[in-house]
Amino acid sequence: MSFKNKVVIVTGASSGIGAATAILFSKEGANVAMVGRNEQKLNNVAKQCAAVGNTPLVIRADVANDNDARRIVNDTLKTFGRLDVLVNNAGVVQYGTILDGKVLEAYDKIMAINLRAVVHITMLAAPHLVNSKGNIVNVSSVAAQMHVTPPFMSYCTSKAGLDHFTRGCALELAEKGVRVNAISPGPVETDIIENSGSTAEATAAAVQTPLGRVSQSEEIADLIIYVASDKSVGITGSVIVTDNGMMLKK
Ligand SMILES: NC(=O)c1ccc[n+]([C@@H]2O[C@H](COP(=O)([O-])OP(=O)(O)OC[C@H]3O[C@@H](n4cnc5c(N)ncnc54)[C@H](OP(=O)(O)O)[C@@H]3O)[C@@H](O)[C@H]2O)c1
Repeated sequence: MSFKNKVVIVTGASSGIGAATAILFSKEGANVAMVGRNEQKLNNVAKQCAAVGNTPLVIRADVANDNDARRIVNDTLKTFGRLDVLVNNAGVVQYGTILDGKVLEAYDKIMAINLRAVVHITMLAAPHLVNSKGNIVNVSSVAAQMHVTPPFMSYCTSKAGLDHFTRGCALELAEKGVRVNAISPGPVETDIIENSGSTAEATAAAVQTPLGRVSQSEEIADLIIYVASDKSVGITGSVIVTDNGMMLKK
C-alpha cells in the first residue's frame, strides 16, 4: 500500500491513534503534515516518522481555531504542493451530565474540536482533494452508536454527528471522485482520558469487551491506511467498526 508522492494531513498526530497513523503513513512513503497543539510531543512523533520515512511537516495548531485551521491546509499546500488524504483524528473527551450542571461546558468544548473543526477543515481541504481525487478518513467512535456512561453524553453526541457528516460529505463529494469514510474504534489504549484532564475510573465500564481486550493505536492506524488506500476504491460513506465486539453488547 504505497503512499509514495502522496500528501496526508493527520490531525491529532502528537499522541495515540494520530501518532501511530502519522508514523505508518510515513513508513508507506507519504509526506505527512502532523497537526497538534503540544509541540514537544509533535516533535517526538516527527522523529519517529523521519526514522521510517520522509521528514514530516509539523504544524502546531488548534483545530478549533479558525485561523489555525486555514494555516493547516495552507501550510501543507505551500510545503508539499498537493493534498491526497485528510485524516480528521483530533478529539477530546470531557465529562458532564445534565444533573451535575456540566453538560453544556462539555458540549461546547467537545463539539468545537470533535465536530465543528472537522466540518471546517474538510471544507478548506475539499477543493484540493477534488484535484487529487483523494479521500477523507474521520476517526469516530462506537460511542456514536451506543451510549457508554452518562458523563460521556457530549462525546457520544459529537461522534454521532461525525458519522452523519461523513455520510453527507461522501454523498456530496462522490461525483467529484472523492471518498469519505469513518473508522469507529471501541476502546483503544491511549492517553485520551488523561489528556482531557479526567481520570480513568469513569471509563472502567467501557473497556469490558467480548474479546476481553482493548485495541492498540497501531491496529486503528492499519485500518485508516487501508481505507485511505486504492485497495478501498469502492468504499465511501461507510462507518467501519473495530471494537473487539463491544457493539454486540449494546
Ligand atoms: N482511545 C480510545 O479509546 C478511542 C476510541 C474511539 C475513538 N477514539 C478517537 O480517536 C481519536 C484520537 O484519540 P486518541 O485516543 O488517540 O487520544 P489522544 O492520545 O488524547 O490523542 C488526541 C489527539 O488529538 C489532539 N487534539 C486534541 N484537541 C486538539 C485541538 N484542539 N487541536 C489540535 N489537536 C488536538 C491531541 O494533540 P494535542 O494535545 O497536542 O493538541 C492528540 O494528538 C479521537 O478523535 C478519539 O475520539 C479514541
